[in-house]
Parts: sequence; structure tokens; C-alpha cells
Amino acid sequence: MLDRLEPQAPDALLALIKLYADDDRPDKIDLGVGVYRTGQGDTPVFTAIKQAERRLVEEQESKSYLGPEGDMGFVNALVPHVFGSDGAMGGRLQGMQTPGGTGAVRLAVAVAQRAGVSRIHLGAPSWPNHAQILADVGVETATFDHANPDGTANAEAALAAIRGAKDGEAVLLHGCCHNPTGIDYTPEEWDAIADAFAGGAALPILDLAYQGLGHGMEEDAYGLRRVLEAVPEALIAYSCDKNFGMYRDRVGALYALAGDAGQIDAIQSNLNALARAAWSMPPDHGGAAVRIVLRDADLTALWLDELETMRERMRQVRRSLADAGTAGAIDLTPLAHQNGLFSVLPVSKEQVERLRTEHAIYMAGSGRINVAGLHGGNIEKFVQALAAVTG
Ligand code: LMR
Repeated sequence: MLDRLEPQAPDALLALIKLYADDDRPDKIDLGVGVYRTGQGDTPVFTAIKQAERRLVEEQESKSYLGPEGDMGFVNALVPHVFGSDGAMGGRLQGMQTPGGTGAVRLAVAVAQRAGVSRIHLGAPSWPNHAQILADVGVETATFDHANPDGTANAEAALAAIRGAKDGEAVLLHGCCHNPTGIDYTPEEWDAIADAFAGGAALPILDLAYQGLGHGMEEDAYGLRRVLEAVPEALIAYSCDKNFGMYRDRVGALYALAGDAGQIDAIQSNLNALARAAWSMPPDHGGAAVRIVLRDADLTALWLDELETMRERMRQVRRSLADAGTAGAIDLTPLAHQNGLFSVLPVSKEQVERLRTEHAIYMAGSGRINVAGLHGGNIEKFVQALAAVTG
């Protein structure tokens, strides 16, 4: 029977990892998959995490099962950072650990489907895996424009989708550092989005995978918190893979906000059943390390310092690109006002291909670049190459 399977194209973004590794040109530049890099091009383990891991090895007495919710100490320690000081929301909010942000999005979509959601509105472009997850779970994707041609967010399109959605529909929004565009809604636009959700039928699903990489932990949570203040129900997918640098440890969480505290156990029981059937229990190690960081004031301060260094470096790269003005046909100035790891350049697939073959520059076919792949030693080469293929 297995011979009936048609070959599938490899995930285009993940395929870049191997292509880049196999390229032996010494001046190659990786602007592909979304990992932070230092000015030396490395992706080191956070010092706060290293210290927590040492402590974990010393203190952990058992690796016995924890249950489908995973490490609830980790899940609850995140709450004030994500949801603010009143994060419990009168007992209406509850979370569980998931394998990365992908696991959280997957579980959010699956539980929404169980609750009767058959259609999810998604800004386009979005992280390509969003649509893949929706298709795999069996929920219809409807799209609206995420951005305007001038590089601002198209909040009107999101508002129209939210207001127009009926019972049985959800709207999935990026909480901050939009992937792939780096274009986020302004606080005023989030206020309007929160009001639209409050007045409409759509279930909000918020994906917060890059908190702290835009303007700061608090600033990046503004939209999420405004929506949650306004609505009875929501699902929140969270990732620690970027802001704690845990990538391959797959550290994520899914939180559900219930209309009434009395409903939270029923929601949780459905999440547990879906998690059990999908992965049984999330991997423990990364979540346990994050818990140790967040329960220790010194380690928390160290982690926040490290996160700020990352954020400032990416801001500096964005400013340097914007200072270059234009590269051939590409206006780089909007990048200064975009957030997080990603921005999309208006380049064709052929130009992306030429950047790779002629200049050893690796980026997604969509024109997305990971700005963290740039630094003082390669930014000029990048701008010149961009000018060469688009000029
Ligand atoms: C990315 O978009 O590069 C990251 O979110 C990694 C991934 O899983 O796609």
C-alpha cells in the first residue's frame, strides 16, 4: 500500500538548511530559517539557559511521565510575562505545554475544530506552516491581505475578516514580529481589532512566537492582552523557541481563555485528549530549563538582558539596511520600522535563485530574509548582491 504514496516536495524553508550547509563558499550568507544569530553568525545557547540546565541536571531526580499537560510549573511561570500581572483572568485562563509553537498551533486548530470551527481566516502572507497545519487538520483557510504595498499593516482587511466571520469561524493573528513580513499592527490598530473581536462571532487564535524580539516583552504583548481583555474566549499559541533560543528542544505552550471559569476543565479535557493522541506528552527538558530561569530572579534578569542584546542587534541591522537606502530596485528604508527576525523583499523567485547561485546568499523563495543573518562583516556584500540581481 505504501507504494501508492506520491513523492512530496521537501519543506522549502527547511530544505535551505541543508543546501546552505552543503555550500562550501566561505562568504556564504544564511538568511533562511528563523534563528537568531550573533554578529559572528553563531546561534549560541543563552547563558541563563546553560545555568538552568546545569541546575536541572543536578536537581532532577526522575524523568518519569508528567502527563499530557507537561511541566505545569513552566506553563504557569510564563503567565505573568505573557499575560501580565492579572494573567489568571479570574480562573478563565489555563495552559499546557506543547512541542514548540508548531505543536501549540496544531492543538489550537484541532481543538477549535472540535468546538465546531470549520474555517479559519489568516492574513496573507503568513508563516507557510499555518496553512499546512490547517489543511492537515481539515479546516478551510480563508485569507485576507496582511500588509499594504507601502509596508504598513492592512488593519482594515483584518477588521473586515473579523467583523464578517460567522459562528464556526476563527481568525488567526500573529501577536508580534509578523512572520514573514515583520509588519505588525500599531497599538491603535490592536485596540480596533480587540473591539471587533468583542463585537463579533470569530474565535481569536493568537500566535505569539517571537515575544521580546520586537520592542520588548511588555510591548510585544500589547495586542494579545488587549484582545484578551475584550473577548470571552480565545486560544493562544506560544513559543519559547526563539526568545529563549531553545529551537530544537521544542518548547511551547497553548493557553485557552474560557468564557466562564466553569468551562475551563471541559476545554482542558479536550486539549489533553488531543495531545494524548498526537504526542502523548511534550518533551520535558527545554520547558524545565525555562521554568528554572523564570523562577529565579537573577536568571530571569540575565535572560531578559540577553534578549535585549538580541533585539538591539536586530534593530541595528535594520537601521544599517535602511541607511543603505536602495539596493538596485529595492527600497530598504521600510525595514527600519519592521519587527523581529523577518522582512520580505520584493524580489522574484528567479532573483532569489540568482542570489543563491551567484552570490551564495540563501533566503526563502518568498523573498523573506532573516535579518539576524546579517552583520557588519556581510551586510555590504548583501546590499551589493541585491543591487546586482535587481538593478
Ligand atoms: C521560520 O519561519 O523560519 C521558523 O518559524 C522556523 C520554522 O519552523 O519554520
